[in-house]
Amino acid sequence: MSKNKNLFYCIECGYESPKWYGKCPNCSSWNTIEEIPKVFLSESLDKTSLNKVNLIMPKASYIEEINIKESERYSTGFSEFNRVLGGGIVPGSLILIGGDPGIGKSTILLQVCINLSKNGLKVLYVSGEESLKQIKIRANRLANIKGELKFLSENVLDIIRVVLEEEKPDVLIIDSIQTIVKNDSSNSLGSISQIRECTNILLSIAKKNNIATFIIGHVTKDGQVAGPRLLEHMVDVVLYFEGEKNISYRVLRGVKNRFGSTNEIGIFEMLEKGLVEVKNPSEYMLAGRPLKASGTVVACLMEGSRPILVELQALVIKSNFGMPRRTAAGIDLNRLNLLLAVIEKRCALNLSFYDTYVNIAGGIKVNETAIDLALVIAIISSLKNVVVSEKVIAFGEVGLLGEVRAVSLLESRIKEAEKLGFEICILPRVNLERMNIKAKIKLIGVSNIKETLEYIG
Ligand code: TYD
Ligand code: MG
Repeated sequence: MSKNKNLFYCIECGYESPKWYGKCPNCSSWNTIEEIPKVFLSESLDKTSLNKVNLIMPKASYIEEINIKESERYSTGFSEFNRVLGGGIVPGSLILIGGDPGIGKSTILLQVCINLSKNGLKVLYVSGEESLKQIKIRANRLANIKGELKFLSENVLDIIRVVLEEEKPDVLIIDSIQTIVKNDSSNSLGSISQIRECTNILLSIAKKNNIATFIIGHVTKDGQVAGPRLLEHMVDVVLYFEGEKNISYRVLRGVKNRFGSTNEIGIFEMLEKGLVEVKNPSEYMLAGRPLKASGTVVACLMEGSRPILVELQALVIKSNFGMPRRTAAGIDLNRLNLLLAVIEKRCALNLSFYDTYVNIAGGIKVNETAIDLALVIAIISSLKNVVVSEKVIAFGEVGLLGEVRAVSLLESRIKEAEKLGFEICILPRVNLERMNIKAKIKLIGVSNIKETLEYIG
């Protein structure tokens, strides 16, 4: 391609083309094709042209010349939140929090602000969505506010910058990026280019002035923060706040983190007076569990480095129609269908005349295959109407041949089960054979799902 030709790319998916389109031919997004600046296209940049644009020539460093003094981190006041961030807020970092509208993003950040200001930090909370009165009503619900916490109801970034110059906060909250415009004359509120431009400006302000900045982003209907890939690669940390509106349980999930591990989660519960941490999620998930009932078994899943015990429920009843109904809450329906097919074939049980409903109690969503075995046991328990002892816990991945395959992080799972008073653990035989820890709990290794039948009634 000749050097003088323009090139275009899609800011959503990165698709490149020599032509401009209104709709990206690759990802079908509208208005996302932009021109690639010429400077990125020129093949050779000589030193003189760099000097012209007043750039200081950078110098490469030896590894021993690099200083890695671990900077202090600000505590959010929630140990669950700190863990997801990798130990607290890094000064000058840009953190994106995404989530459905109404899930509690403003609430949790307001609580974090209150805690930060109690620790003597200067905080500025900018809301482009709510008036100062609305913020006060919410704040009054949460706690008494003392300390250096100030609010601004504004959605023009140029004005926010002036206030920032004056206030010089340590921590800034932008609620939400979709409501911020660069200046009065821009009329592209919420558009992708607007969001990108504003985030870019906030990024440079944060880095230059060492202001830790939280950006709230609403998730659009198709499940993405507007301009998602774009914002995700610009910021240092991406967190998602998840949950169902009618269930009080909330999960703060790390998706990207330049300062820590990404598969950590923090668990909260939404109460009258804001969000509280759930320090022992297993206990929380198993509270109120029905005992002596058929169709329920406990499994252990891993969320990052944390084991969480969850109750799996299955209801299998005779179908009134030719086509059996199958629904799954908390797990993938395709996975359920697959497991039902495996049970039919490998245990010689006929499930095609039965409706099957499965549910993970507590509203949690699981996509870990380690819960397969417990799900199989729950389904067979309901089908045969026999109760599995409430002291039993099971985990293992089930393959298409009915084999029970190994799971990772066995030790943490067993410890958690022991902590919560379980007495029998059904686990993959391969795991048991390789294991070299002593457990108080009785361990039963199985190599295929047929073997588990003898423990179900
Ligand atoms: P909000 O933080 O406004 O959500 P977002 O910023 O993600 O859009 O949360 C709003 C919901 O939270 C609303 O339905 C009321 C509920 N809520 C409580 O249950 N307890 C509280 O203390 C507060 C402040 C809100
Ligand atoms: Mg809000």
